[in-house]
Amino acid sequence: MIRVGMVGLGLISAAHGHGYELEKDAVEVAAVCDKADDLAEVRAKVIGCKAYVDYDAFLADPTVDVVDLMVPHHLHYEMARAALEAGKHVLVEKPLANSSAEASDLLELAKSKGLVISVAENTRFVAAYLALQKILEDGRIGDVRLIRTFIAGSEVVRLSDPTLWKGSRTGAGGGTIMDAGAHSFYLLRWLFGDIKKVRAIQYKLVPESEVEDHAIVSGTLDTGAIFSSEFTFTAEIPWTERLEVYGSTGSVIIDQLADPPAVWYRDEWDAKGTPLEGVGSDVFGWKLHSIADGVRDFARAIAEKRPPLVEAEVGVFALRVIERAYESVAQDGKELEV
Ligand SMILES: NC(=O)c1ccc[n+]([C@@H]2O[C@H](COP(=O)([O-])OP(=O)(O)OC[C@H]3O[C@@H](n4cnc5c(N)ncnc54)[C@H](O)[C@@H]3O)[C@@H](O)[C@H]2O)c1
Repeated sequence: MIRVGMVGLGLISAAHGHGYELEKDAVEVAAVCDKADDLAEVRAKVIGCKAYVDYDAFLADPTVDVVDLMVPHHLHYEMARAALEAGKHVLVEKPLANSSAEASDLLELAKSKGLVISVAENTRFVAAYLALQKILEDGRIGDVRLIRTFIAGSEVVRLSDPTLWKGSRTGAGGGTIMDAGAHSFYLLRWLFGDIKKVRAIQYKLVPESEVEDHAIVSGTLDTGAIFSSEFTFTAEIPWTERLEVYGSTGSVIIDQLADPPAVWYRDEWDAKGTPLEGVGSDVFGWKLHSIADGVRDFARAIAEKRPPLVEAEVGVFALRVIERAYESVAQDGKELEV
């Protein structure tokens, strides 16, 4: 059995817990840790495991092999480092750290200790993106010319609360570019290759927040394709993502709010298109299932002594793009090399 310790029992922890529950033949949640009130105690009772309020005491627990970090962004680096120093494998929620330098440092430390670290990037497990990967591998849409990504939902309540980390520059390290950009830049690199150049602009609608709640990042890939990514945290709709891929012999449109959510168009006369096989409408489940599948893969990878499907290096790359995007914002949208 792989024994996992979950740290940070907030919003996203239910999806991680669901993943471990589905993998319970091979994974046991041995301990949970959260510094807030009795959160750990309550959760531990439900799971039937140990509860910790203090992270150092949690790390000293020899029954924890894998640390799953779901804490605010500014804690990712120091808590992942401490876990590696304590000899634990580490899964960190995105972004891997608050900078590419911190993330690279974590990778080096893990390597030097023979431990595995990765980022919980659910994008790699979204059914529609996996179906698109097959279309691309089969060459069905030819050379990709243009890619558009869109991530939208509402974080207005959390961004408006100055006691929470989400709208704090120190706590979150940034707004939509840091938070949603981590997903889109991972996706671009995974399916289409390196990003070569970026330019970015950002906006802020929530007055209490210190970070941007809307951004547009565009640029080019090494392949010559153009991309454009737009993120908003002020859209009052079910949390959603949209991906449009336009190739020389066809296109694919993925929209998690549409039914069917993923459609392949063969040419300009293909009015109806063909739904991608095995991708059904699942407005409230697509994200939850992909997050659960991601943590399951990480746990299985440790058990099977193989690399996880999400390579931590791609998480480092996503942070490099995020950094260049913020530099571009500071220079009024100037195009910069990644
Ligand atoms: N993959 C996704 O789509 C997705 C979605 C939401 C959040 N996330 C990521 O998950 C992470 C957590 O986000 P969230 O929305 O669940 O945050 P949250 O604020 O809801 O939960 C964070 C938890 O961490 C706890 N915590 C803070 N400091 C701690 C410490 N020192 N020791 C122990 N516990 C501590 C807090 O008490 C809180 O319960 C972030 O990295 C976020 O970007 C990913």
